[in-house]
Amino acid sequence: MSELGSRASRPWWRDAVTYQIYPRSFADSNGDGIGDIEGIRSRLPYLKKLGIDAIWISPWYPSPQHDHGYDVSDYMDIEPDYGTLADADLLIKQAHNLGIKLIIDIVPNHTSNEHKWFVQALAAKPGSLERNRYIFRDGKGPNGDLPPNNWEAVFGGCAWERVIEADGKAGQWYLHLFAIEQPDLNWENPEVISHMEDVLKFWLDRGVDGFRIDVAHGMFKEAGLPDVRTDPEAVMLGTEHKPFWDQEGVHDIYRSWRAIFDSYPGDRMAVAEAWVSPASRIARYVRPDELQNSFNFEMLTTLWQAQQIRQKIDNSIQALAEVGAPTSWVFNNHDVVRSLDRLDLGLTNHADTTFSRQGDASELNIARGTLRARSAALMMLALPGGAYLYQGEELAVPEVRDIPPDRLTDPRWRMSGFQDRGRDGCRVPIPWTSRPAGAFGFSSDDSLRPDQAWLPQSDWWGKYSVDSQDGIEGSTLSMYRQALAIRKAEIGLGDGPMEWIQAGKDIVAFKRPGDFACYINFGLAFELPRKSVILISSAPLSGQSLPTDTAVWVRLIS
Ligand code: GLC
Ligand code: CA
Repeated sequence: MSELGSRASRPWWRDAVTYQIYPRSFADSNGDGIGDIEGIRSRLPYLKKLGIDAIWISPWYPSPQHDHGYDVSDYMDIEPDYGTLADADLLIKQAHNLGIKLIIDIVPNHTSNEHKWFVQALAAKPGSLERNRYIFRDGKGPNGDLPPNNWEAVFGGCAWERVIEADGKAGQWYLHLFAIEQPDLNWENPEVISHMEDVLKFWLDRGVDGFRIDVAHGMFKEAGLPDVRTDPEAVMLGTEHKPFWDQEGVHDIYRSWRAIFDSYPGDRMAVAEAWVSPASRIARYVRPDELQNSFNFEMLTTLWQAQQIRQKIDNSIQALAEVGAPTSWVFNNHDVVRSLDRLDLGLTNHADTTFSRQGDASELNIARGTLRARSAALMMLALPGGAYLYQGEELAVPEVRDIPPDRLTDPRWRMSGFQDRGRDGCRVPIPWTSRPAGAFGFSSDDSLRPDQAWLPQSDWWGKYSVDSQDGIEGSTLSMYRQALAIRKAEIGLGDGPMEWIQAGKDIVAFKRPGDFACYINFGLAFELPRKSVILISSAPLSGQSLPTDTAVWVRLIS
């Protein structure tokens, strides 16, 4: 057993397997084609049976939905399309009754342009208190016609938008690192800081177990808002040197948030979405007096290659061990191409979501991608620390690449000048049944057709459904259920030590306490040690031979 003590004695967030729910796309209880809280509630038994420890719900606040809830217009209420505060309370209570923790998304970097603060800011004068909650600046050039600096929005285009002042003339500019409808808050303003603390307390009081912090490396901007350097040397240095990411100020905020979490009973926590590298920069978010988890995005940018994966695991574990934090593995989320496609095609850049930029998608080999995604899942669940799953990965759904262009909704599509199809392909509503009625069971209303779901489901979508995999030996759903059950029973899994096994250049293999070992084969068929008992494999084995693109958990017998 590890020096950290038994799992029961550790805070839950050191080991938890957390399942991400994208509420719009999970389950629709009233036939409007949009997922909702009542839908989530109806599926709690499914989640319980899957064997996860916690759920994370992507933003459920009132929002004009330009970025599907990541543009929040009121942090202390629920989006009417999703339900009410009373529905949220009931969901929290029922999840807890089932022993499932619940964390929610918090979006501190920006609000919606329909948030009352931003509406007030637009109505107020330059230099006013109202404008000072956001980042308004005069433009450059003789008439202020040019943006205040050269920053670009993550979704494409200029990060500044010019406003029309009360006199009807073009006036100041405001900063939006994401969509135009997502103005950045001014974190130098104490009112912003204290409002967000109130928001945290509002939800902690309602019983949530924690928060997923959106763009946790954002919020603070370098003083003076200097231009991004565009000379070749700076471009080579990459994202670490952007004057709006990973600034020192965020750490003061997280220290004060940690104090708030610790003032509540029951190990309340937060996980940072911090797209920073190298791993040593990520470690700074999970220092002992800051946040508890920070997503480890290394596996979203990896090739399916033993050497690279070993390296990424080593780097991640070492960096976090220095601050005593567990690693939080992620293979899928609502922002990236599904692992099945990624690992087959060798897509490595999360920001490049379009297939036209990433090579020819027609090359996709679904069978091989499925093998790899399943192997990756067994690897992730055997590695030290916790794991974050994304709805649908337990069904091995591929990326949906045939959404008609006129149905694409991601702001990235528009802001890239219709070049980048964006992230809709991993957000298509979950197929619960193989029958198309009720949008493959996504909706409780049988008359809803698959193309009437908020994002249309393609004809072939039903073959990945829950009901076609439920109880079926060898299905991906059965594999996840079985793996999560074994993970729970094995004292050596979750947080704790690991040790590499040298088994050849194309094999990633490691031991965990309890004579447990995991082998993943990236090369030709490989003979497992003769003295090992198979606990689970991601695909059928032939005797002790581990085929290409297959992972296995074994008990080593000495
Ligand atoms: C995060 C979210 C993403 C959103 C962006 C802006 O990266 O995961 O979905 O678009 O922040 O809030
Ligand atoms: Ca609905």
